[in-house]
Amino acid sequence: MSSPDAPPEAAPGAQAAALDGAPVTDELPSAIPAMWRLGKLGYQHEPRLMAASIGLALLAALPDALLAVLLAILTQGVIDQDATMVAVAAIGLGLSVTLTWFLSVVSTRVQRRFRDKVTIALESHVARLQASVTTIAHHERPEYLDRLAVLRDQTFVLDHLYLSVFSTAGWILRLGVTVVLLAAIDPVLILLVVLAVPTVVTSSWRPAVERTVQEQVAESQRLAGHLFQVATTAPSGKEVRVTGIGRRLAADRRASWERWYGPIAHARAASALWHTAGWLVFGLGFVGAVVYVASVLGRPAAEVVLVLAAGARLTAYVGATVGEIGFLRGVWMDGAIRLAWLEDYAAVQAQDADAPAPTELGPGIRFEHVDFAYPGSTTAVLRDVDLTLPAGAVVAIVGENGAGKSTLVKLLSKLYEPTRGRILVDDVDLARVPADEWRDRLAGAYQDFFRFELHAGRSIGVGDLPRLDDEPAIRTAVDRAGAADVVTKLGTAERDGLDTQLGPTWPDGVEVSFGQWQKLALARGFMRDQPLVLVLDEPTAALDAETEHALFERYADFARNAGGAERLTVLVSHRFSTVRMADLIVVLDGARVAEVGTHDDLLAAGGQYAELYTIQATAYS
Ligand SMILES: Nc1ncnc2c1ncn2[C@@H]1O[C@H](COP(=O)(O)OP(=O)(O)O)[C@@H](O)[C@H]1O
Ligand SMILES: [Mg+2]
Repeated sequence: MSSPDAPPEAAPGAQAAALDGAPVTDELPSAIPAMWRLGKLGYQHEPRLMAASIGLALLAALPDALLAVLLAILTQGVIDQDATMVAVAAIGLGLSVTLTWFLSVVSTRVQRRFRDKVTIALESHVARLQASVTTIAHHERPEYLDRLAVLRDQTFVLDHLYLSVFSTAGWILRLGVTVVLLAAIDPVLILLVVLAVPTVVTSSWRPAVERTVQEQVAESQRLAGHLFQVATTAPSGKEVRVTGIGRRLAADRRASWERWYGPIAHARAASALWHTAGWLVFGLGFVGAVVYVASVLGRPAAEVVLVLAAGARLTAYVGATVGEIGFLRGVWMDGAIRLAWLEDYAAVQAQDADAPAPTELGPGIRFEHVDFAYPGSTTAVLRDVDLTLPAGAVVAIVGENGAGKSTLVKLLSKLYEPTRGRILVDDVDLARVPADEWRDRLAGAYQDFFRFELHAGRSIGVGDLPRLDDEPAIRTAVDRAGAADVVTKLGTAERDGLDTQLGPTWPDGVEVSFGQWQKLALARGFMRDQPLVLVLDEPTAALDAETEHALFERYADFARNAGGAERLTVLVSHRFSTVRMADLIVVLDGARVAEVGTHDDLLAAGGQYAELYTIQATAYS
């Protein structure tokens, strides 16, 4: 797990809502500084290998670039029938070929070594950045998702980026030497390089155009991938078969694949056409140059050979330089920009958190006129929530599905920031508390808990990372969660339940039912001994009402008698038999707080709570 401080159920966290208005994190940074930053990053990690790689790449380029000179000398030697000259040229040619080969082998080895080392450094850099962002909003906003998807795929290719820079340096050197040779014959020949400009323009423009299209249709690509997964993997297998939607999924996947690939193929074809036109211009120029030197200037054969050889090389060099630069622009620059964006984004998140997380709760937690809409959406999920959750209390939140109960819990866990209003923890704005410190004070189980496919003991232990393998602590948590039966059942004659690998796809892994997963998640939530805030978001929905009731009764006693250390327990449940035990009940209705009070208050008030309670009580009796 990448973020030791995040509650295990939370996706490795990241922040955003508070900054949604901040353009600095929304716009992509500019290219040159971003590339410079990425270059520096490589140098910081492997300064010597990076210097050696560039030096060798340049050295390896030289013999190749000077080949045209040797060919010209050979021609002159043949014409003059000068045996020494011919021999020198022939030996030079042989050496040049051998050296080119030898140096490029050595240089490739060194570069690969550099690449391997730097790739690992970069990948962990990206992973660390993603995990350091404190809310999870960037995992959900479609435009950020697409941005991150590109970055993630490109972390893969990042290894090629530096190699590409080295070889670009080599090609530029070859090109420079060739230009000097041509200019020595006649400065007009430098025009050849100008004629190569259209090819440079088209090939550096191509990837940008294709990438724009790719971003526009990235959503279809994501959909196609998702449908493929739904159609072919085990978790969805049962429902796919029972509902018989297999064919439909295949057709939909095909359609969305085409929605993705069609525009891209079109953009590629169009840009290829322009590219061809660019090369045509250069080709005509080259033929013109040879004719010019031979017929117009009437230069000796050796010089015509030099132009022919250097010019022919020029096409290859320009092609390679342009190709490399195109690749650099397409992948390196793009990757660098996204990486710089992520770095800035993560940095802005850390900036405003200047208040230490409290070590104990005084009066409690106040929601002050809190509004909340999920990032990228304008629908208010919570509206003007104004609430005091007193320290030491067990607070129950009730309401219909979609009323915003889980959202309230997520705000309390600082997985998102309120869109408007504040959450005060004993008068300190939660927005100013560093998210990782705050989450150290939290414990609990979330409705959409994660299934950690580890050994059972560890999948519980991650609830309190310092005590990951602390068996007594894990057993205590198991007891608190009433999950002892699950652990016993996982065990066999020769193996303790806690040592059982969860998840059937692993060696010796066992299949675990939803209810069992839920109990394990609950145990994980109970790992921390002294959390300031404990959140329990329908963690026992898979248990029967009586077990849930017993569990909470035990837990509420424990919470209330916490030995002076006041804590707050927030419980979401649909079962009124459990809810009625709470000290305070908050009824959410359509994003607003409808009622607040104790069970008796609310029954007496005869409002929504009283009505729902009566319905359930009648149903159970
Ligand atoms: N990650 C999300 N992005 C966008 N909307 C969400 C997200 N999670 C929940 N919602 C929406 O917010 C509303 C409240 O959801 P939630 O807090 O989970 O309700 P409850 O827990 O009370 O059932 C629902 O309309 C739901 O569709
Ligand atoms: Mg919920």
